[in-house]
Amino acid sequence: MSQQPSAITAPGPLRGGSPPAGWSHRHLLDLEELTAEEISLILDTAVLCKEATEGCRRKIDVLAGSAVVNLFFENSTRTKTSFSLAARRLGADVIDFSASTSSLSKGESFIDTAKNLQAMGIDAVVVRHGTPGTPHLLASHLNVGVINAGDGPHAHPTQGLLDILSIRERLGDLKGLTVGLVGDIAHSRTARSNLWGLTKLGAKVILCGPPTLVADGWRDLGVEVSHDLDAILPRCDVLNLLRIQFERQHTRPFPSVREYAHLYAMNRERLRRAKKDLVILAPGPINRGVEVTADVADCPQSLILDQVTNGLAVRMAVLWLICGRRQHEISGEEGRRA
Ligand code: CP
Repeated sequence: MSQQPSAITAPGPLRGGSPPAGWSHRHLLDLEELTAEEISLILDTAVLCKEATEGCRRKIDVLAGSAVVNLFFENSTRTKTSFSLAARRLGADVIDFSASTSSLSKGESFIDTAKNLQAMGIDAVVVRHGTPGTPHLLASHLNVGVINAGDGPHAHPTQGLLDILSIRERLGDLKGLTVGLVGDIAHSRTARSNLWGLTKLGAKVILCGPPTLVADGWRDLGVEVSHDLDAILPRCDVLNLLRIQFERQHTRPFPSVREYAHLYAMNRERLRRAKKDLVILAPGPINRGVEVTADVADCPQSLILDQVTNGLAVRMAVLWLICGRRQHEISGEEGRRA
């Protein structure tokens, strides 16, 4: 059994119990509502957290006394584990709430359940749900922080942030980069969160996939739409390869997986025709042989596992900002009462 990492001293900017100037949000629901400066603040904080925890491996007790509840109503490997680990790395208490064994099965409403958790003195709820808008509904009923860990096909803000952090680490400033989001755009919360984050930071976004999965109407948001990966490939600095979300589709959007892979999978042959330093991302879970071939998924240009480590860094940053603000709010209220 591995030992719990011992806590090390956090650097000055992460100590002190109050979030930095420039952060005013109680919740993180979507990147659409953040400014470029606020997105950069989260990314810069993630870098600080990553360095302070020696690559996300050590503990810094900057959130000792805070409590975070993971409320996941959809399956997850990366997001749930990394939110739990991120909270623990910062010294917070974490509860992984299990919907199937909770009193929801006895008829208690979702909001009543959440209010009961709030009454136990928690600071933040991390929620994943299949219904778009669920985190927003929670935020309108709770006074603790609500963090969206994916709401149906709508938004997945920490995924967008970790993708952007991974690009920034490899290629530097986002301004002027061309990022292709390839695959099932219609059902992808990752695509939407990437779109908002990337465009706010000055990157050009191309959405690419079959016409049944990438509607021309996306152009209204200031992005390019293409149905031809081979045509856009030479212009892209980054490709983010999105999974085909069969579980959200009601009809088949293409004749066969084999045909999809022929037209849109990133493979060795396409890699040869791309820019020399093209960066390959995939939010995971990946389906090898569908959106990306196994050799490309594991090639040096692929940041797929770096994205997972950066997910931990981004989630530490988000928890620190949200719980730090909450603790600051509580100490202000107590100060006024004293
Ligand atoms: N990328 C992502 O959200 O993965 P999980 O579904 O495993 O959390």
